Amino acid sequence: MALISNDLINEIRRSVDIVDVISNYLPLTQKGKNFFGVCPFHDDTNPSMSVSKEKQIYTCFSCGATGNVFKFVMDYENISFVEAVKLVADNAGISINIGNNYKQKVNKNLEPLYKMYELSEMLYQNNINTVQGKEAIEYLKKRDIDESIIKEFGIGLSLHKRDVLTKLFLSKNYSYDVMLKSGLITKNDYGYIDMYQDRIMFPLWDVSGRIVGFSGRIYKGDGNFKYINTKETEIFKKGEILYNYHRAKDEARRLNTVIIMEGFMDVIRAYTIGVKNVVATMGTAVTKEHVTLLKRMAKNIILLFDGDAAGAKATYTCANELIKVGIVPKIVRLEENLDPDEYIKKYGKEKFLGKLTHPINVMDFKLSYLKKERDLTSNDDMSKYINDVLKELVNIEDEILFELTIKKITEESHLSEELLRKKVNDLKSNDDKKEENVVIKSEKVKKVTNKYTQAEENLIYYMLKSPEVIKIYDRKITYMPTDVYRFLARDISYFYKQYHLINVADFMTFLRDDKEKLDALSHILSLPLKEDFTLEEINDYINAIRDYNINFEQQRLKTKMREITDPIEKAKIAQKIIELKVKGD
Ligand code: UTP
Ligand code: MN
Repeated sequence: MALISNDLINEIRRSVDIVDVISNYLPLTQKGKNFFGVCPFHDDTNPSMSVSKEKQIYTCFSCGATGNVFKFVMDYENISFVEAVKLVADNAGISINIGNNYKQKVNKNLEPLYKMYELSEMLYQNNINTVQGKEAIEYLKKRDIDESIIKEFGIGLSLHKRDVLTKLFLSKNYSYDVMLKSGLITKNDYGYIDMYQDRIMFPLWDVSGRIVGFSGRIYKGDGNFKYINTKETEIFKKGEILYNYHRAKDEARRLNTVIIMEGFMDVIRAYTIGVKNVVATMGTAVTKEHVTLLKRMAKNIILLFDGDAAGAKATYTCANELIKVGIVPKIVRLEENLDPDEYIKKYGKEKFLGKLTHPINVMDFKLSYLKKERDLTSNDDMSKYINDVLKELVNIEDEILFELTIKKITEESHLSEELLRKKVNDLKSNDDKKEENVVIKSEKVKKVTNKYTQAEENLIYYMLKSPEVIKIYDRKITYMPTDVYRFLARDISYFYKQYHLINVADFMTFLRDDKEKLDALSHILSLPLKEDFTLEEINDYINAIRDYNINFEQQRLKTKMREITDPIEKAKIAQKIIELKVKGD
């Protein structure tokens, strides 16, 4: 993401006023120095969000949301950091072409790889329009994919020849090394050859729409390997892309709904009938990165996987991944083991759209999924089924969905509703107990480190206010014990060296979308500390942190000494411990 320079971003930030920008989204009223509004990031009724004209940041007293103008736009619009920067610049009428800048800042080493993909796409698209592409075009026609769709999705053809692409790359002076790195060329006993031969080529794009890979499909006979995908390269990570993301995102945001399918052929088919808010996972399990992308697209997520058993299983796993992060998806299931592509071909557009407008809720899907291959007339299977459903209910926060499901399984099982409710509560309190254990443990850890953690937090708080404190930190602190604070403090120090000033709004830009650091920063900013400080106080924090480090090192050495038998080594360590003690005192 670090593609647009911080200087440019800060230039944009400085040329807008956060109060104006947020006013475009919600009404703000001025009280004293600050402006107040209803916080859009939680269920707010009173205006609990304050916007500071002076600091150019917003803070919600109730939910703790905080950030600069880009963070606000990013979270409000559900878009990425780079998109937020672009939007703020656009709206402010700043004519800085981020598009070009974005490209310029791309890692120079990767540039040849992107270029090679552009070249190969041109070659493949050209091929399909020659005589040699006739059979491929016919295959696509049979699948109802006409010329306009071929163009729109950049579909092409690799020829039945060994080294067309290799030769093209050689003529452009690419080294064999880079060719292999691209994943488009491979090496065997004959030498360097094209990875793809005689396949219909579907380009795969990254989130910004650049081609980073291909999936090549056989189109004659029934060979092995229906599709061959580009191997993972420096620019192609299958778990980080969703097929069609760049094309679907605007429509998904407009409709506030995104549909996920398994295969890209399904996406292309849906597109032909005007359903454009669709992406595909391309047969892999949903990853954390996928979930982040989906969250950016829309609030409502519909899972529309293949109608077969594998598709049902994928739906179940994917739904659980989403529920874990607080998204309750809707589900569409297709009959007769059909995938969306086959379903649309067999039953037509209207029937498919009917399916889409009546998705089922996730619990109904789970009930039928858990029922499958169980004989509910047998007590054994019924009890397994009910227990499975109860476990699912523990995670359902939606009250209505919870009540409806309890009613349903009461009817199905003929057990008493009270019993079922009690069972869910038992499961819940078991979970709580587990959590309590964890909390108790971490509380203990907290108590031990409390004084030090506080010192770290206070020090960072004043580093953000004064270069003088940053300089003291640089001179006296070599190591902050808490990971995230260590990184944060280093970043502040680095930021100051770079810009010769410290200012929270710009520093937030510098952190981009590093959630962990931003959260830590917002925690520190919300501490009830006074505005000014004395050097004695700063020294106290510094000493507390040093004490911690010395203690920690002493402990480590003591443990080591216990493990060692060699008396000379033991003596050496003992000496070190004494030296540390002197340092500490
Ligand atoms: P499917 O087997 O469901 O493909 O795999 P499909 O969409 O129905 O394709 P057609 O209709 O037979 O042409 C779903 C996805 O899994 C990946 C592809 O990304 C595909 O879109 N896949 C499948 C592979 O990577 N390799 C394969 O051999 C098969
Ligand atoms: Mn298919």
